[in-house]
Amino acid sequence: MADLQEIVDKLNYFEKKVLRALDELKQASPEDILKQSGLNLLVEVMNASSWLQAKGLVKIDESIAKAYSLKRLDAAKKQLPERSALEILHHEHKDRGSLADLKHSKKLSNEEIQIALGWIKKKGWGEISKEGKDTFITLTEKGKKALHKRGEDELLIETMAKGEVMETDAGKEVFDWLKQRKDILNERHIASRTISLTELGARIASMRLEIKEEVAQITPELIQSGRWREVDVRKYDVKAFAPTTYGGRSHPMTLLIERTRRTFLNMGFTEIRGGYVESAFWNMDALFTAQDHPAREMQDTFYVENPEKIDISKWRDLVDIVKQVHENGWKTGSQGWRYKWSLEEAERALLRTHTTVNTVRYIAENPEIPFKVFSIGRIFRSEAMDSTHLPEFTQIEGIVCEEGSSFDMLCGVLKEFYKRMGIPKIRIRPGYFPYTEPSLEVEILWNGQWMELGGAGVFRPEVTEPLGVKEPVLAWGLGLERLAMLIYGLDDIRDIYVSDMDWLKKVPQV
Ligand code: FA5
Repeated sequence: MADLQEIVDKLNYFEKKVLRALDELKQASPEDILKQSGLNLLVEVMNASSWLQAKGLVKIDESIAKAYSLKRLDAAKKQLPERSALEILHHEHKDRGSLADLKHSKKLSNEEIQIALGWIKKKGWGEISKEGKDTFITLTEKGKKALHKRGEDELLIETMAKGEVMETDAGKEVFDWLKQRKDILNERHIASRTISLTELGARIASMRLEIKEEVAQITPELIQSGRWREVDVRKYDVKAFAPTTYGGRSHPMTLLIERTRRTFLNMGFTEIRGGYVESAFWNMDALFTAQDHPAREMQDTFYVENPEKIDISKWRDLVDIVKQVHENGWKTGSQGWRYKWSLEEAERALLRTHTTVNTVRYIAENPEIPFKVFSIGRIFRSEAMDSTHLPEFTQIEGIVCEEGSSFDMLCGVLKEFYKRMGIPKIRIRPGYFPYTEPSLEVEILWNGQWMELGGAGVFRPEVTEPLGVKEPVLAWGLGLERLAMLIYGLDDIRDIYVSDMDWLKKVPQV
């Protein structure tokens, strides 16, 4: 009993009112409870019922009822095609006529004649026979009787012309008939709820529930009049049941992109952008990637057919230097890759395979130091998908150059970035890229194994000297989806883009 009293003590005014109403009604719709309880609003009944349900005192059953109306009200003014055909056959052709006869009457379109034929057959109004090229209809006794009696479907159309009809009021079969016709019915689903007491609820409801008026707000009148002594002030219950509401929100990747952007902006960087379609020149040649490098093959890179080529003649002087860097090292002190460089290969249009294309172009256009820029963008690779690889993903790119910039500074910037993104510990390992020396890879512990998050390094003189920059340029390219896996706790990178509504609704904001 003590336990029951404890439950009673925690009931609020609205819950008590609903319980008392249900003690009389046993089970009822929210509308009936509203009437019985003397509460003012349906929402009060519904809220109280939801709270009581969470406490196991009532059960809310929901059922869906179907309501139908006419799509167009004038549907009731026009008779059904089979009735028009029936009348034509009876009045003009002595109960037997052909499709050609119906056509000649000009009262029905060809489409309507076909519909009429189908329904005459289905309703058993006529026998259909083929004679020569024409089809004949002979009215049956049922058909002749139907001339003087409207069918259930026709009566229902008439009723619906006056207003909505519930499925239960007319019988499912007639609606099924009408549903087979195009553009007649509008269907609306109406949820109806029945609230009943559980066993525990019934025991509580039968107890003496002292119902005192409850106020949610103390007003000056309450204090001045002294009525505050007579009312209960509703307690603020942070554990109270409340239905979860899911409003519209940005996609988790959009949020992560915004957070990444904010982080670099806060670290003093400026954002740059670029297009998806680029020349191989900017994507590879300017980055000292030899023209026979495996990454340039069709199976790794998506080449574009239209445009097939991108004009780089505006950069004629730089193109000529890059050619020499590849062939013999130019003045950089390097020996180059020692092969015959092709302008045609460099002009090929492709979908950018990394956002390093943005930063190298930026330096070509703004070679004055210092600079600190970043970009966040979609890139494309002809790659098989698996739990850590996508053919289309997002890279976070960045470069820093100032007097005295160094490899240590690069490690510091990367650690600081990940720290600000909530990843306190990263592992830095030696790496290799054709355009950086030294090069590094950033890794993070994920599901007990090290996962590569990004590549970085100091641009080689073969990249920066043709662009007119002498100081070391620190550069990196990081995978954003891999970071998303860590931040959102996903085991499979593909889960980010499968649009699972449940995940999208519940994933915490970053
Ligand atoms: C690059 O793309 C270099 N451009 C990075 C760079 C820039 C190095 C500047 C040096 C200087 P990589 O191919 O490793 O490197 O890609 C960088 C990161 O993108 C990877 O570490 C990984 O986190 C992510 N990544 C690579 N391939 C995929 C893929 N298929 N799906 C999802 N993420 C990927």
